[in-house]
Amino acid sequence: MKKLNIAMIGYKFMGKAHSNAWRQVGRFFNLPYEPVMKVICGRDEAAVKEASRRFGWEQYSTDWQEVVARKDIDVIDICTPGDTHLPIAVAAASEKKVVLCEKPLANSLAEAETMLRAVQKNGVTHMLCHNYRRVPAIALARQVIDDGTIGQIHHYRGTYLQDWLVDPEFPRVWRLEKAKAGSGALGDIASHSVDLARYLVGEIAEVTALLKTFITERPKSFEDHDPAAVDVDDAALSLVRFTNGAIGSIEGSRFATGRKNYNRFEINGSRGSIVFNLERLNELELYVEQGPNSGFRTIMATDSKHPYMSGWWPPGHIIGYEHTFTHTVLELLRAMAALELPEPNFFDGVQNQRVLDAMEKSSSSQSWERV
Ligand SMILES: NC(=O)c1ccc[n+]([C@@H]2O[C@H](COP(=O)([O-])OP(=O)(O)OC[C@H]3O[C@@H](n4cnc5c(N)ncnc54)[C@H](O)[C@@H]3O)[C@@H](O)[C@H]2O)c1
Repeated sequence: MKKLNIAMIGYKFMGKAHSNAWRQVGRFFNLPYEPVMKVICGRDEAAVKEASRRFGWEQYSTDWQEVVARKDIDVIDICTPGDTHLPIAVAAASEKKVVLCEKPLANSLAEAETMLRAVQKNGVTHMLCHNYRRVPAIALARQVIDDGTIGQIHHYRGTYLQDWLVDPEFPRVWRLEKAKAGSGALGDIASHSVDLARYLVGEIAEVTALLKTFITERPKSFEDHDPAAVDVDDAALSLVRFTNGAIGSIEGSRFATGRKNYNRFEINGSRGSIVFNLERLNELELYVEQGPNSGFRTIMATDSKHPYMSGWWPPGHIIGYEHTFTHTVLELLRAMAALELPEPNFFDGVQNQRVLDAMEKSSSSQSWERV
């Protein structure tokens, strides 16, 4: 089997999740390639050295430019904040590497378009990590929609709620700086709801949105308590019109007290509905209109016939958050072998960014904005 040398840039939250995915994927699924965890990269030498040991990488580096230029590297996996996605992805594309990039694709629509042009011009495979498409219950939701079980879709209601910023003493980490993160709850978590809306319902044509920053100044960092300005949204709330006639709402907030990672959607169609909540990720609720005794039932999406589950455990033996990343890299490897473009990819990233951009514009213009 052909070996594929992987390089990962960034070694914290997503670095840990993606490392686990690269390590596990071949242990549970038959692969067309053998991924080799070649080199992990970050700026702090002691920390990246420790990450390489702990996560199982062969080598570490503190210089992403040098890593991207290495002739022995096949895939660049970008797990860094949004302000670094463009330079890393563009450099990787020009070195003809396969690029897997964390979401949101970029910090602005213009940057996302530049990244798409770079991968197209160089003819390289590209993928965006909207990993929730790879939750078995969500992939099952897509099948249920595609086979017509819930009929024509009228409503999409997507919420992605967290509460880690409700404490005003929590410092202004990079996710609260526009220059680093592009936006706040909008790009960080509402972008996932936008991706699921596009994956499950269709393209969004028009939006109206309200962005709100509740706390505009925070301690600069955990160590330095001087005040620093917050210039991104804490919450984003939007109404959307889909091109196929469905309507929806999308809400992302990091101020939803008590909600930790409440990524939920409800879709209502002419014949039935589906409901998903990440905090119970093995389950899909399905309602099919069948007269007076119909009601919601819960499908445990752990049968070997359910998406991805044949690779894991017997029915009822549940899986978790980390598996969604394993399925993401699996899809990348399968697509590469089939000479196809994996999904979601940089086209999806640009389209997602168009929606986020329209939401941001609408919050300023206080009117509907076309995507
Ligand atoms: N798919 C998901 O569900 C999901 C979840 C969380 C984060 N993300 C995305 O993943 C990306 C990273 O987020 P995170 O939560 O892992 O952040 P993090 O703060 O936990 O880790 C960021 C990493 O990037 C490194 N880094 C920062 N600037 C760098 C630079 N200039 N050069 C080299 N390395 C640099 C840091 O040292 C660190 O290792 C973001 O785009 C974020 O939106 C996606």
